[in-house]
Amino acid sequence: MSSTGMSAAGPAEEQARASRKDEHLDLAVRLHGTDRPNAFDDVSFMHHGLPGTSADSTDISTSVCGARWPVPFYINAMTGGTSATAAINTDLARAAADAGVAIACGSQHIALREPERADGFKVIRREAPDAFVLANVGPTVSPDLALRAVEMIGANALQVHVNAAQELVMPEGDRDFRDWDERIASITAAVPVPVIVKEVGFGLSRCTIATLARTGVAAVDVAGAGGTDFITIENERRAGREYSYLTGWGQSAVLCLLESLSGRLDGREPVGLPVLASGGVRHPLDVVRALALGARAVGISGHFLRTLVDHGTSGLRRELRTWTDHVRTLMTLLGAPDVEQLRRTDVLVTGDTAEKARLLGVE
Ligand code: FNR
Repeated sequence: MSSTGMSAAGPAEEQARASRKDEHLDLAVRLHGTDRPNAFDDVSFMHHGLPGTSADSTDISTSVCGARWPVPFYINAMTGGTSATAAINTDLARAAADAGVAIACGSQHIALREPERADGFKVIRREAPDAFVLANVGPTVSPDLALRAVEMIGANALQVHVNAAQELVMPEGDRDFRDWDERIASITAAVPVPVIVKEVGFGLSRCTIATLARTGVAAVDVAGAGGTDFITIENERRAGREYSYLTGWGQSAVLCLLESLSGRLDGREPVGLPVLASGGVRHPLDVVRALALGARAVGISGHFLRTLVDHGTSGLRRELRTWTDHVRTLMTLLGAPDVEQLRRTDVLVTGDTAEKARLLGVE
């Protein structure tokens, strides 16, 4: 992400933006703890000894923005715009193409300002010509620039990231969020592809999603807390670490799903929008947990980035294939022949998440 104003900037400012991209990447990897407990641990399933399913007939595909995705998880937005991040995007896109998973690029603001940096994003479409690819901007870009971001990579959908918490802890970040919903509505009206509004690791409340439903967006990704934490990352970038007390701000994807989709057993989507989930997803069981709670698809950033850095492209390819197999295995174990049926499995929510859900009045 970038501080989102599109006003003209000098070379020093442009350089600072580029090195922030590289720093975010390094810190996200360094601070990533794959096995750290989080709210997904509060979700478990009743085991039934007669699943009545077979792995061969289990359909793990899902529908997102009018498209059928063969795999119900995706590589979520991360990066692009510098030579280091272009190399990461190349590897991510190759692995995505190999596994048939959808892939988002990171914020394209840097390339909208400096078109010579666009190649670091275009590599995604080049390496994954048939993938479902998501472009990424913030709400402060003009509708014309949002359209340019989509065209830059031949995107199938556009993610608009809302990152107020991150902007506020960055000294150079935005401070005025008054018209974000109107800006999102203008972007949505201007681009020819579906728009998905996403958080960046602090969660979307039911109330926020209800406001977004009035802007014409096609879906939301709650991108909750418990995984990559941009307040911690921003604190690490500064000697004073001014906002260290804000670490952990926001709500988990699990709580967001419970809050926004309560009543899902009637087949309704009370917030009026399809909901995707991400934030703190560590393994295939977390994917299946989020799908069972009603997510249409599940995004992963930190874990796949860490896998790529530690084990290279072949390691990430292996990981994506293993996750695909395991999602199928877990659905078979749960007696769910498809993602729709997975939402009807017996889910138990305990601990801190159950307590918060009770306070929010979730049935
Ligand atoms: C991100 N994320 C992100 N999101 C976005 O919409 N635009 C962006 O440019 C970025 N940049 C970015 C860089 C890096 C290095 C990481 C790890 C993440 C946020 C990401 O898409 C996701 O919402 C959060 O990371 C939470 O998911 P994980 O990491 O816990 O799986």
